[in-house]
Amino acid sequence: MITDLRRIKIISTKMNVIASQQKSLVKLLSLSIIIHALFSFTGYSQKGTVINIETAHNAIALQADTGNRLAIIYFGTKLNNAGEYQSIPVMTKSGSSDYSGIFNSAYTPAGSHNLMEPAIEVTHADGNTSLDLQYVSYSTKKVDDNISLTSILLRDPAYPFEVTLNYKIYKKEDVVEQWSVIRHREKGNVLLKKFASANLFFSSNQYWLRQYHGDWAREMQPEETRLTPGIKVLDSKLGTRENLYQPPSFMVSFNSPATEDEGKVLLGSVEWSGNFRVDLEVDPLNNLRLIAGMNNFASEYSLKPSEEFATPAFLYTYSVNGKGEASRNLHNWAREYRILNGKGSRETLLNNWESTYFDFNEPILSSLIKDTKKLGVDVFLLDDGWFGNKYPRNNDNAGLGDWQANRKKLPNGLGYLVREAQKSGVKLGIWVEPEMVNQKSELYEKHHDWVIHEPNRSEHLYRNQLVLDLSNPAVQDFVVSIFDTLFIKNPGLAFIKWDCNAVIYNAHSAYQQKQSHLYIDYVRGLYKVMERIRAKYPKVPMMLCSGGGGRVDYGALKYFTEFWVSDNTEPIERIFMQYEYSYFFPAIAHDNHVTDWGKEPIKFRTDVAMMGKLGFDIVVSKLSENDLKFCQQAVINYKSISDEVWHGDLYRLMSPRENDFASLMFVNKNKSKAVMFNYLVNNRFGKGSFLPVKLKGLQADKKYSLKEINLYPGTKSAMAESAVYSGDFLMTVGFNPVVNAGRTSVIVEINEVR
Ligand code: GLA
Repeated sequence: MITDLRRIKIISTKMNVIASQQKSLVKLLSLSIIIHALFSFTGYSQKGTVINIETAHNAIALQADTGNRLAIIYFGTKLNNAGEYQSIPVMTKSGSSDYSGIFNSAYTPAGSHNLMEPAIEVTHADGNTSLDLQYVSYSTKKVDDNISLTSILLRDPAYPFEVTLNYKIYKKEDVVEQWSVIRHREKGNVLLKKFASANLFFSSNQYWLRQYHGDWAREMQPEETRLTPGIKVLDSKLGTRENLYQPPSFMVSFNSPATEDEGKVLLGSVEWSGNFRVDLEVDPLNNLRLIAGMNNFASEYSLKPSEEFATPAFLYTYSVNGKGEASRNLHNWAREYRILNGKGSRETLLNNWESTYFDFNEPILSSLIKDTKKLGVDVFLLDDGWFGNKYPRNNDNAGLGDWQANRKKLPNGLGYLVREAQKSGVKLGIWVEPEMVNQKSELYEKHHDWVIHEPNRSEHLYRNQLVLDLSNPAVQDFVVSIFDTLFIKNPGLAFIKWDCNAVIYNAHSAYQQKQSHLYIDYVRGLYKVMERIRAKYPKVPMMLCSGGGGRVDYGALKYFTEFWVSDNTEPIERIFMQYEYSYFFPAIAHDNHVTDWGKEPIKFRTDVAMMGKLGFDIVVSKLSENDLKFCQQAVINYKSISDEVWHGDLYRLMSPRENDFASLMFVNKNKSKAVMFNYLVNNRFGKGSFLPVKLKGLQADKKYSLKEINLYPGTKSAMAESAVYSGDFLMTVGFNPVVNAGRTSVIVEINEVR
């Protein structure tokens, strides 16, 4: 029998043995961790000069390793001492190895010793599928005080094949546009199988992706998730209207999801109006590898010797102060450098789409033109249905492609309407959809070879239409000629709505020798057309529309002044969509129309539409006296705040997703005037603004008066009139716009009091 005492002794001896075994194991382990860490870092060992690409606040540091492969050694806040970037890799001890040594490649080639998702994949002229890219040289060119371009040349040591990585820096805005140019001098064509614009690399504890999805009338639905090891792909294979299901814009937060004013966040967008692809790969060492560009899906590209293949740019901005600052960076960049006439003004309009659809004639339009004047807006926009004779465009299954005014509806042509508009003191705008065709059209009968379709298969329609093959120069000429005819005959035309309703089914071109070039050459063809149109008609404002917001990207916005947010104009839905779009695109580019969608009163619908470029698509003649009076006054009020909305800084105060009401404000650059928009989004009993809303972007030591504008006739504001507060008070304590079931939308004008 073992006594209790002996049992305790035995147990304690056993425990001592285990403890001492554990101690030696711990010693052994820590030694091996130290040895391991000493030799394995991130697989990177230093060698060449550091290429340092800096904006006002951020830096990307690149360096070639011992094998001469260019790696990203840093992406983040700029260091005071540029000499210290090279010490960064030594600080990263992952506890594991990157056996390949190129997880952090600046442009990852496929087929050599890479083990991760490649940025570029090729088949050489001799059939070999390996690619190695070694650093050769770099140069930085100063474009002006704000812009510089760093170009880095990489070359394969075994093949006359090279890639130039380009980083265009917009210093003040903290924005980078990055793209690649690929070329070779091999004995035959090289097949490009993947060809990213950019390959980035981040080291953080966690990565949070905010991506968007949607469909017709459901644009910009966000989803925020933590990225886990493996690859998440955002892409489009729709050919045209690429973001019907998913836009090429997204954000990645580091460590935890960024808020409006806190957190590290990257906002990115592929500047391409066609199939795009973004790979987000969390590698085995918990780094994030981001590869973005055109989609290589069904798009192998055969590159001739000495020919250059330039990718579109991947656009990004990075902020350590949350999504709000990052979005203002993008807005500043977009207005200054990208959106056509981004710093200019916009004209308000009355559209006839929802008031008439296809059913109109000259007298109806003449009276709508008079209503345009009555409403007080600048332009009457004639929508779909004005063209086609053999096959009149009386519904959406005929006439598309035949761009002659319908003689029955418009016996005196468009010129008559231009003159009618001029007589009424407004301008005429017009809808076109030049990339598309109906089977019932003269164009289809004459030029079936211009239509994208599979010769051996039945045609598959989207909204009763097919897509023209813009990769064919003859089709490009045709599209340009539509514009020439319109503008030569009617130089007074003042606005164009360019629509693009169908996706590409049965992607096959009668023109292309290599079918896999179609998706890319389609978009290149579209841009060639745009270049030609803009060379001839540089100023005419043009709305980028695609069955709603099916094509909203910075590749196209170079040629357009604005975009149609969505066919869904139900105002509550719009608040959510406009809110998400606003992260990537400034309000000056958001076309918002007041329509009859939804049950909200006209004041609510108008207040929502004023948070962008205001337009109307309602039957003015059917408005009640007070509704008309309200709309007329709203147009006047809009003119008094539009400068702030178009050119000011946007601050999101209350998100509609997290609160019972949404609140946003725009502040002008010298902080002397602001406008605040508030909308109730929860109709449950008693919901409203219980607490003050903290304003942002004002100047603490300035004094401001706040006044509610855009009141419905006969109503009074519930806000205290003539109150004056300091910027400090408004930003620290806040201000209550008194939003509730009786006041579902409130616009507040904020003016500095001197
Ligand atoms: C698309 C647009 C609408 C309207 C119709 C006309 O759906 O998004 O605004 O122009 O086409 O057919």
